[in-house]
Amino acid sequence: MKAKVTDESNDKILISKYLQGQFAEHLGHGIYDGIWVGKDSPIENVNGLRSDVVNALKDLHIPVLRWPGGSYADEYHWENGIGPVDQRPKTINHSWGAVVEDNSFGTDEFFELCRQLGCEAYININLGSGTVKEMVDWIEYMTADGDSYFANLRRQNGHAAPYKIKFLGLGNEAWMGGGFMSAEYYSDVYRRFQTYVSEYNGPMYKVASGPSDDDYAWTKEVTERAEPFMDGLALHHYALTNGWNDKGDAVDFNAEDWTSLLNSARQIDDMISRHLELMPKSTDLVVDEWGTWFQPLKGTNPAFLIQQNTMRDAAVAATSLNIFNKYAGRIKMANIAQMINVLQSMVMTEGDKIILTPTYYVFKMYQLHQDARLLQAFHEMNNDLNYTVSEKDNNYIVSVCNVNPDKAHELTLTLPKAIGDITYTKCLNPAEMNAHNDLDHPDAVVDKDYADYTVTGNELKMNLDPREIVTMKLPIK
Ligand code: AHR
Repeated sequence: MKAKVTDESNDKILISKYLQGQFAEHLGHGIYDGIWVGKDSPIENVNGLRSDVVNALKDLHIPVLRWPGGSYADEYHWENGIGPVDQRPKTINHSWGAVVEDNSFGTDEFFELCRQLGCEAYININLGSGTVKEMVDWIEYMTADGDSYFANLRRQNGHAAPYKIKFLGLGNEAWMGGGFMSAEYYSDVYRRFQTYVSEYNGPMYKVASGPSDDDYAWTKEVTERAEPFMDGLALHHYALTNGWNDKGDAVDFNAEDWTSLLNSARQIDDMISRHLELMPKSTDLVVDEWGTWFQPLKGTNPAFLIQQNTMRDAAVAATSLNIFNKYAGRIKMANIAQMINVLQSMVMTEGDKIILTPTYYVFKMYQLHQDARLLQAFHEMNNDLNYTVSEKDNNYIVSVCNVNPDKAHELTLTLPKAIGDITYTKCLNPAEMNAHNDLDHPDAVVDKDYADYTVTGNELKMNLDPREIVTMKLPIK
C-alpha cells in the first residue's frame, strides 16, 4: 500500500490528548486491590495508592480519568465516601456482584489519584438514582472555595484547595442501567440537572449520556432536545467476538475469531460518522467507554469482568485510536474500559504483583500523538492497514497497525518533507496472535525496537509482519 501524506497548512486539527483517556469504576478489582490498597497495606503505597501501579501508569501520561462509573455512577452516593475512613458506611455495589463497598476510596482519594497520575478529572454524576441536591452539594464539596458548608467540610477533611473538574458526565447509559429511560425523558432530566451545575472553579465540560453503538434515534432525539445545554454526547461501543451472547475467550481463539473481533471494533468508524452526521456541530462526540469484552476469566467472579489481554486486544486498541484520530476534529475525548483489572485493562494485579498488558504498550507508543497536529489518519473497513500520521515539535509521528492475523504488508508513506535521523522506533510483534503477559511470562509482549524500514528523502517504506503494531518518531529535516 502506498499513501501520500500532505500538510494542509490551514488545517490545524489537533489530536486531543483526551482521546487517550482512561476509565476506573468501582467494579471488581478496578479500584480495590487494583489501585487502592489503603495506607496500612504492606504493599508499597503513597496515601493508600499502590506505587507499582501508579508508576507504571505515569509512563502513559494519562490525560483524564473517568470515575466512579459506568453503571456504578448511577447508584453512587458521594457522602458515603468522605471523612474518616473508619466511619464511612458500608454499602452494597448493586451494579457489580452485590459485594460490600466499604467506601474507603471516595472523592478525596480519587483526586489524590489524579494528582499522582497528573491527569484531569472526569466525574460522572448520579442522575439515575441521585437527586439534583446531591449533585449540587457534591460539586460544591469538590470545587467551591468560599465559606460554605460543603467547601468547609472538604477543608475539615484535610483538603484546603478546591479541586478542578474538567469533564462532568450527567448519567450513564440512561437507556439501560442508568434508569431505562426513553431519549425524550432523559433529555428533560438532563436539562433539569444541568441547570443547577455551578462552575465555581473554572468551566466544566458537560457530557450527556449518549447512544449505545448504532442507536441513531437516541442521538437525534437527545441532541434535538438538549443540545444547547451540553458540550459532548457519550457514545459507548464494545468489541465482541460473536455478539453479546458469544463473547468468546480472551486467549483461546483462532484467526477467524481474531478477524470477527477486529471487525466488531472497526464498526465504530461507521458509527462515529453516522452519529456525527446527525449531531449539531456545536456538540462533540465523547467515546467514554470502548474496548474488548470477553467471557470472564475462568474461576473469577463473573461480575468482576476480569479478562486476559493479548495481541488481539493490542490490535483493537491501536485500530480504535487510529479511528478516533481520524475524527479528531469532532471527538473531544475517549476513555478505554477500563484502566486496571477490568475488561481491556492497562494493568492487571495479583496480590503484590502487577502485569502490564499488550494494550498498555499500545498506549505507551501512542502517547506521542497527544496534542500533535493531525496530518492523516487512515482506516477503511476492508483494508488490513490502518495508521495515524501526526506532527509535533518538528517530528512526524507515524503509527501503523496491520490487522491481518496471517498476512504481511508493505506500506510506503510519502511525507511532506524529508526525514532526518530517526530517534524512536518501537513495535509490538510477538510470534503468537494470542501472546499475552502473565506472572510466569511478564515480558512475553513488550515494546521492542523496530528496524524493518527504509527512508529515502521524504519516503518511508515499512514492512509489517502479520498483526504488527509500530510507532516511529521521524525528525523533519
Ligand atoms: O465498563 C463496564 C460497564 O459497561 C459500565 O459500567 C457500563 O456503563 C457499561 O455497560
